[in-house]
Amino acid sequence: MNAKQLVGEKATEYIQDGMIVGLGTGSTAFYAIQKIGQLVKDGLKIKGVPTSKATEKLATELGIPLLNIADVRSIDLTIDGADEFDPNKQLIKGGGGALLREKIVASISKVFICIADASKSSDVLGSFPLPVEVTPFAYQVTAYQLEKLGCTPKLRMQGDQPFVTDNQNYIVDCKFEKIEDPAALTIEINQIPGVVENGLFANIATRIICNTEDGSVQVFE
Ligand code: A5P
Repeated sequence: MNAKQLVGEKATEYIQDGMIVGLGTGSTAFYAIQKIGQLVKDGLKIKGVPTSKATEKLATELGIPLLNIADVRSIDLTIDGADEFDPNKQLIKGGGGALLREKIVASISKVFICIADASKSSDVLGSFPLPVEVTPFAYQVTAYQLEKLGCTPKLRMQGDQPFVTDNQNYIVDCKFEKIEDPAALTIEINQIPGVVENGLFANIATRIICNTEDGSVQVFE
């Protein structure tokens, strides 16, 4: 079993009958969702809230009953991946471009379980360029304002066109050297007009499930 599958399946052990479960996005969340699909087939009664159109499609194919986020005010448990995490459980997310829906789901989740293989671990955030979702309108101005915060911004492309999110926005990937204070940077970034949301998940993760070298899992609370 690969590391992503190992941590993804481990996270599903925290799911109980009757829960509303936030379903993350990405190649690690994929394994958790596959396992949830299997558990549902075996009789587990949960309702899922997807964090992207891709996850909605996958969960539907697997027969996981879904709720529309618009009708939900509280989620019991969310399982989602990350692009980078630090020892304080601060995260960078959005490598797959789903950060806005992921953050809305996370914001109403009582428990947020981050599943990540050991390659995502870092002492200080900043190795992974921080994804920032911005409005297409005047994105050049927004990127300039982001640059003034000390990063190198780059518009995410898909072929020769800008990458477009599920919410019809663009992503600017911002390479910072080191992000020492993710909570403070979140506020600074989100104050820039044109920014919709950024991929820093500061003080959101309840626990991180990660693999170890000997092939077992490690849970950080
Ligand atoms: C999606 O936008 C992201 O936040 C993913 O959760 C994150 O990029 C991790 O993805 P992988 O599990 O594919 O590395």
